[in-house]
Amino acid sequence: MQKFTCVQDIADSGQDLSLAINQLIQEASAFKKTPFAQQTLGLQKRIGLIFLNPSLRTRLSTQVAAEQLGLQAMVFNIGSEGWTWEFEDGVVMKGNTAEHIKDAVPVLSSYFDVLAIRTFPGLKDRQLDYCEFYLNQFIKYSTVPVISLESATLHPLQSLTDLMTISEFGLKRPKIVLSWAPHVKVLPQCVANSFAQWVTAWDQADFIITHPEGMELEETYTRGASIIHDQKEALAEADFVYVKNWSSYRDYGQAMNGKEDWLLQPEDLSRTNAAKIMHCLPVRRNVELSDALLDSKQSIVTQQAANRVWAAQAVLAQILNTNG
Ligand code: CP
Repeated sequence: MQKFTCVQDIADSGQDLSLAINQLIQEASAFKKTPFAQQTLGLQKRIGLIFLNPSLRTRLSTQVAAEQLGLQAMVFNIGSEGWTWEFEDGVVMKGNTAEHIKDAVPVLSSYFDVLAIRTFPGLKDRQLDYCEFYLNQFIKYSTVPVISLESATLHPLQSLTDLMTISEFGLKRPKIVLSWAPHVKVLPQCVANSFAQWVTAWDQADFIITHPEGMELEETYTRGASIIHDQKEALAEADFVYVKNWSSYRDYGQAMNGKEDWLLQPEDLSRTNAAKIMHCLPVRRNVELSDALLDSKQSIVTQQAANRVWAAQAVLAQILNTNG
């Protein structure tokens, strides 16, 4: 693996993507059983974890994963601690930006063997966000492999974790429902896009996406999924319900208000196959998911977040193996 920014990055050319996903899930599961099985793989190497935005799970799980491979991890919260970066080429830097990434990223590449970065979308300019301008500029100036810790449109480490977690239940062709939820803030589409991208590429589940009309995700990611606007109908016989808010792709970056009835309650799950409840966290309780469901036995959000370590470790191991 040369880089890890989306599901396509995990397959060698000509390799079946579903097979590549299963192999990565198996590697993650093997690390879960034996965390220190490859504890010398990253010895005398370093990874730089660059955050332009806040994080709990991604930051700490990747650090734990690196440490278990003998890889030294250093975190740089550039968004709050560093010089403000300029990403545009050819700009006259008279504004608020103090350092161009054309200068900063080669320096980082000299300090680290692997770089990882979290960027978020501005949610103002759809074209800018969906061309992954910030991530791609970073990759352009890096001379070492780059891992996405979440970008403007995708969150691949989260999605690998999510499929690993679903696999742990051993169901043959489970029914998975991605259910839009209300929120008080305007959130990116990354987690939903990425989950849809990985589930459809995996092709081992019946996959339904349910959301109010107007909250359609970008079609590239949802091709192969059934889209149902009636949440109750979508939930029938579900084995897993992945709850997540996202803002509008069509009316770009706009929130949808007045849809509080999309907040799932325990009685909504009576039509499911005792569905497990998933969420990537952080979650706003009783806005996006009810206490009653988050605190129920059906919630697997902690298991899901705990698995972030093993997914990150599998990806880091493959990056280290490929890049010597
Ligand atoms: N799920 C997730 O990415 O969590 P953090 O934002 O805390 O890293």
